[in-house]
Amino acid sequence: MYDFKIEAADKATMYRDLLSALEGLTASEPDPIANMANAAALVWESLPGLNWAGFYRNVDGELVLGPFQGRPACIRIPFGQGVCGAAAESLQVQRVEDVHAFPGHIACDAASASELVVPILDQDGKLIAVLDLDSPTPARFTEEDEAGCLALCEVLGKVL
Ligand code: SME
Repeated sequence: MYDFKIEAADKATMYRDLLSALEGLTASEPDPIANMANAAALVWESLPGLNWAGFYRNVDGELVLGPFQGRPACIRIPFGQGVCGAAAESLQVQRVEDVHAFPGHIACDAASASELVVPILDQDGKLIAVLDLDSPTPARFTEEDEAGCLALCEVLGKVL
């Protein structure tokens, strides 16, 4: 078992440590499911205040549930639906302070209040998957979280 304990005093340091742990864990492993599974566990253990952390994969133009931590979740999400589908269709990060105000939000867990979804693109800019983080705290995700998770997803784009 790998024992990564990322408990930095400030968020910037935490994301820097998280990024290097992710690089270390995935660099020599070619299997995308294994890498998504470890990435989900790493994020779940490192970021406080989450109730779900994981991936939806682009499978022939539909989002299909991938490795995650948290409660069982919806399995398939069409592009354009909910927060994950909006990220998949637009290829833009979706940082939603209040999911209940987001048109078409898919409530997998009634406890979720805010959400951050980051697209993961391959070298050609094609969507591989999205990283989805949910929190029961409204406006849990800041610009710093968005930037930190974008950096994680750039690494993941090379190893998924
Ligand atoms: N709430 C998401 C669905 C996925 S779950 O949160 C795990 C959405 O609207 O895309």
